[in-house]
Amino acid sequence: MQLNHPDIQEVLVTADQIQERVAELATEISEFYKDKEVLLLGILKGAVPFMADISRALSIPVLQDWMAVSSYGSGTVSSGVVRILKDLDADIKDRHVLIVEDIIDSGLTLSWLTSNLKARGAASVEIVTLLRKPEAAKVRIAVRWVGFDIPNAFVVGYGLDYNEHYRSLDGVGILSPSVYE
Ligand code: PRP
Repeated sequence: MQLNHPDIQEVLVTADQIQERVAELATEISEFYKDKEVLLLGILKGAVPFMADISRALSIPVLQDWMAVSSYGSGTVSSGVVRILKDLDADIKDRHVLIVEDIIDSGLTLSWLTSNLKARGAASVEIVTLLRKPEAAKVRIAVRWVGFDIPNAFVVGYGLDYNEHYRSLDGVGILSPSVYE
């Protein structure tokens, strides 16, 4: 569905801008892993569109797996304590893992996840995220590829939801506060 939706207060990233950036990231990622077998690890549910687009834009063969995690905490504030709702299907020992995320907000989810994957014996763990909110960071994490840095606003679209709505919008925009106030 197109982003020009009445509940969107401001467009941050259009569908065309996302596709252009996905192609750039895919070129860099394909070069980085050209001699290795990489496992793309998508984090449900927000990363579904990004995983679909970036995986198809890569020029190298990849494996794919998924995890679903949930942060304990109230409302939109993450606590840093993460619960695994769906774990990986396969062992990642000695594998090169690339985490595919839609957004890094506080960074707490990925900080926990990176440590967790390294503890399982992954050969390497890298992160590609479509969006990052630098002003919301609570922990420092090493992110090798970022699509766009965005302001600290409530954003939806391209996988990102508000109460499960808006995930299918083709770009990313700021949700009008009238929707949730
Ligand atoms: C979002 C996003 C990250 C996390 C980022 O997932 O996909 O996993 O929050 O937040 P953090 O940097 O503050 O830890 P969410 O819990 O909304 O789940 P969803 O992808 O299923 O919507």
